[in-house]
Amino acid sequence: MTDTKKSVHGAWSSRFAFILAATGSAVGLGNIWKFPYIAGENGGGAFVIVYLLCVLLIGIPIMIAETMLGRRSQQNPVETMELLTEEAGADKNWHFLGWMGVIAGMLILSYYSVIAGWAMAYIVKAFTGSFFDADATAIKELFNDFVASPVQLIIWHSLFMLATMLIIVRGVHNGLEKAVQFLMPGLFVLMILLVGYAMTTGSYIQGLHFLFKPDFSKLTGDTVLTAMGHAFFTLSLGMGAIMVYGSYLPKGISIANTVLWIAGADTAVALLAGIAIFPIVFANDLHPGSGPGLIFQTLPIAFGAMTGGWLMGILFFVMLMIAALTSSISLIEPVVAWLVENKDFSREKASIWAGLATWLLGLGTVFSFNIWSDVKFFDRNIFELLDYLTANLMLPIGGFCIAVFAGWIMKRQHSEQELNMATASNYQVWKILISYVAPLAVFLVFLHVIGVL
Ligand code: TRP
Repeated sequence: MTDTKKSVHGAWSSRFAFILAATGSAVGLGNIWKFPYIAGENGGGAFVIVYLLCVLLIGIPIMIAETMLGRRSQQNPVETMELLTEEAGADKNWHFLGWMGVIAGMLILSYYSVIAGWAMAYIVKAFTGSFFDADATAIKELFNDFVASPVQLIIWHSLFMLATMLIIVRGVHNGLEKAVQFLMPGLFVLMILLVGYAMTTGSYIQGLHFLFKPDFSKLTGDTVLTAMGHAFFTLSLGMGAIMVYGSYLPKGISIANTVLWIAGADTAVALLAGIAIFPIVFANDLHPGSGPGLIFQTLPIAFGAMTGGWLMGILFFVMLMIAALTSSISLIEPVVAWLVENKDFSREKASIWAGLATWLLGLGTVFSFNIWSDVKFFDRNIFELLDYLTANLMLPIGGFCIAVFAGWIMKRQHSEQELNMATASNYQVWKILISYVAPLAVFLVFLHVIGVL
């Protein structure tokens, strides 16, 4: 079994390669596109604090657990759950966890790809000088006209899916490890330059206040659920993506340290994005709750106004696209790995089918922004429904089950051996977080949302 496995995956060349790939998965549209707009919609400060707490107390312990499960079995998520339930002598119902992950990944990618397509389109807009000296109104119009066109959105969505599938067919290693190596530092530098611009807008302090000054009266059950769901989303947790990456991680490498680095980098990028964007929002009388178009309606103002903004605009959207690509491949890899390893598909065939199905689903999101904007279920358009279903429900449920499995079902000696922590007390801290704190927190948030608490 180990042999066939090797031929399918290979292993990461080093701990560093795993850090790069997992960071590539974590850092993406979630940090730069989603975090600012949901923070804006949910009133800022208090939401941000809940999100940070969720990363610390729920996200990090579960990320350690998910990596650990993957590395222990060295299989795709479906197989991992089968193998590990058997090892622990547990109920077969645990298998559903692998399945839910495969489905959640495709659902998320279907809308993720549409938004990544927007980033690609904006590379062209930056290049042709569309932002030059444009004011907030013009930039907003540019965005509204763009998303009103289903044809344009479909073209860009298709191009992004195609790029994702090409990388998936060729395997994760060729080029991708290297791309991430340049991407992360580049992204950091650009975000810091944008924060520099934000400081010159005159609304810098107001932006910081919005982002970090908590007004807890703004917290509702749904706000807290969104913050928690985003902690899962931004760290790529709860659906097997990190499990797959963990399965390629060589034995003997410290999982906990590695995870701390990844979560730290991910959080830093999100906070930088927020710090760059909100001053621009207030300086231009925009509304923080502008929704999914927020970064596309704010950052171009900066690129149009600052010296060197033309080049920065191009670079920024190129990097955003690459950041999205390194995430999208982790969303589709679980289903592809499962088709290859369990259904005897060739890698090409698996990629084509998984890609086509996801592309088709993505049309629902494309039309949510134009011809189907009035089609609502439970007061949400298709895009919002998919987002709610995956980020707010499937990922936390998946994460909850991973925590219960790692904390209660898996034998202590197995997790202890796999994590191989530096000290016994480190292990103990993780064990308490994963067995009690994380599952209880998720459970309480759900109770709160359905109004029991
Ligand atoms: N974390 C990525 C982002 O922030 C998105 C992502 C990639 C993801 N793989 C995932 C989200 C798996 C949930 C599960 O953009």
